[in-house]
Amino acid sequence: TELKNIIQGIPKTELHLHLEGSFEPELMFEIAKRNNITLDYDTVESLKKAYKFNNLQEFLDIYYLGAKVLIHEQDFFDLTWAYLTKVHSQNVVHVEVFFDPQTHTERGVSFDVVINGIKKALEKGKEELNISYKLIMSYLRHLSEEEAFKTLEEALPFKDWIDGVGLDSSEVGNPPSKFINVFEASAKHGFKLVAHAGEEGPVEYIWEALDHLKIDRIDHGNRCLDDDTLVQKLIEDNIALTLCPLSNLELKVIQKMEDHNIVEILDRGIMATINSDDPAYFGGYMNENYYETAKVFNLSKDQLLQLAINGFEASWLSPVDKDKHI
Ligand code: HPA
Ligand code: ZN
Repeated sequence: TELKNIIQGIPKTELHLHLEGSFEPELMFEIAKRNNITLDYDTVESLKKAYKFNNLQEFLDIYYLGAKVLIHEQDFFDLTWAYLTKVHSQNVVHVEVFFDPQTHTERGVSFDVVINGIKKALEKGKEELNISYKLIMSYLRHLSEEEAFKTLEEALPFKDWIDGVGLDSSEVGNPPSKFINVFEASAKHGFKLVAHAGEEGPVEYIWEALDHLKIDRIDHGNRCLDDDTLVQKLIEDNIALTLCPLSNLELKVIQKMEDHNIVEILDRGIMATINSDDPAYFGGYMNENYYETAKVFNLSKDQLLQLAINGFEASWLSPVDKDKHI
């Protein structure tokens, strides 16, 4: 259709993507087989049927299970390469992707195995698909700050490959303030800072992420409109939100797409972007997220272009590289 063609035609960025969340069931079964691991599900179809979530935690439980089949460098390479070829077909030209080292190191897979596989695929994507990239290491917020510090230590030999740190996993009960010290230490090592905040958690968590963690971009941030003072701050400080509409729908952050506040967020003048979060679990990559949003809100071509431009603006590309795209 016309709308789909417009979306396909727009060069896009993806700024909120968990590599482990791009793990398609078909590839999961293939890797499980070669690693001699039996999944709890017999077939791709029965696994896909389990992808029905009432909240973030129900998703996370199954997401961590799936990640368990990733053992060797080749597995992390294949995971990342599959994601890159997919988004390349959707005219995504720049990505800033998360990985969760603790999901793997906790199981005895070493940090270097994980990052070597990911890095090789990202480099190949840059060479062969012309996709530029940044890599973000995410701390798991259901674990302690001490564990995050251990992960930071393990990351230091690979510092030049990691552009920023993030904070993800179970939000409610694990406020940003739990990680003040490790974010401060991460900043001292030169990492950029982002955090998931205000997805299921309250608007206060967004304040904490800004004031205590000193982040410069908010992942999700759906609850920002609950506080006019915060809205003012986001606008004045030019702090972007990486929204993920299909994720919000699948995790019941909203009951239906019509309930999403993305248009109001844009109309208030906040720098909002569209992203896919965990596309293998939520039924859509970048184009599907744009499409479902555009369809429901009847977004104009100018609005779609603005969202895509916001993606470049909010990215960590240099000003010169941004200018090449905008
Ligand atoms: N929220 C929190 N943690 C996550 C998510 C998310 O949307 N996706 C993967 N880990
Ligand atoms: Zn996320």
